[in-house]
Amino acid sequence: MTKRIVLVVLMAALIFPMAFAGGGQQAAGSDQIVIGANIYSFADNFMNGVMKPEMERYAQEKGVRIDIVDSEGQQAKLNDQVDVFITRGVDVLVINLVDPASARSIIEKAQRANIPLVLFNKEATEAGVMNLYDKVWYVGTNSAESGIIQGEMMVADWRSNPSWDKNGDGIVQYVLLKGEPGHPDAEARTTYSVKAFADAGIQTQQLALEADPNWSTQHGNDKMAAWLSSSFGNQIELVIANNDGMAFGAITAMKTAGQMLPIYGVDALDQALSHIADGEMNGTVLNDGVNQARASLDLAINAARGANVTAGTPWTLEAATKAVRVAYVAVTPENYQDFR
Ligand code: BGC
Ligand code: CA
Repeated sequence: MTKRIVLVVLMAALIFPMAFAGGGQQAAGSDQIVIGANIYSFADNFMNGVMKPEMERYAQEKGVRIDIVDSEGQQAKLNDQVDVFITRGVDVLVINLVDPASARSIIEKAQRANIPLVLFNKEATEAGVMNLYDKVWYVGTNSAESGIIQGEMMVADWRSNPSWDKNGDGIVQYVLLKGEPGHPDAEARTTYSVKAFADAGIQTQQLALEADPNWSTQHGNDKMAAWLSSSFGNQIELVIANNDGMAFGAITAMKTAGQMLPIYGVDALDQALSHIADGEMNGTVLNDGVNQARASLDLAINAARGANVTAGTPWTLEAATKAVRVAYVAVTPENYQDFR
């Protein structure tokens, strides 16, 4: 064995003592399907708060075993975790890329090992990469849809609240919390939320935009606090957040500064529904992590059995992209109760 393989096996033994103690590759004494999975970062509100618990619950319901590891925001770490899963002989991989531009290396690893692979939440950005391997699929959303829905909500509210145009120039002066640069969701939300104003014939002016690979509440708080105390602090008329996590931080900053502004997020986390109930947030967009988690596992289980991945499931594959796309839904002060 090369040093590297010895190292990987040792790491695997440390991380998965059960599998090694049992001597077999699957759970000892059973032919239970074993899924090797990761979350790009357990620090992410949406991934850790919605996707992970539902994947664990649904795996139990389906009688399969899932091991979900934390990639801690490091693609190199994920690459090693995938090597360990492969060495251990999991039946299928369910992977949340850290870097959406790095799908190729993961796909090639799965292909060499002939293990089916379901990518979820971060869609591969390299063109054609999904066609490298016949056993790779994607579960996520249509990223643009969230921006379109968020944008339409903002346009409708802007029109019915003339006082939001603080300086009365007819132009929306906004700040935007983007999330991870290069992430298809962050990019599409940024484009389509603002485009909705243009499509409605309303001019916009971007006062500031900041990106954060971790989509974090801390970042939302730090940036919003800085913006409010900057030279344009009193010109801000609208806060666009590409996820709820960052919006929560911005809301805290606005409370501290005693200056509440219209603010919109994406995900529809429980805390966002509470902020809407309290009148501190104007809207969000349901990012249906529960159904994305279920779809990821349904495809994975079918693939592990060698069945058609959508057999016996409610999901349909988009042929060109081999993707299942779960719909987004607008969440407003009128309907938020339905999502609690
Ligand atoms: C969610 C974000 C999350 C990101 C992680 C997006 O779909 O809306 O809240 O941070 O996925 O990749
Ligand atoms: Ca204005």
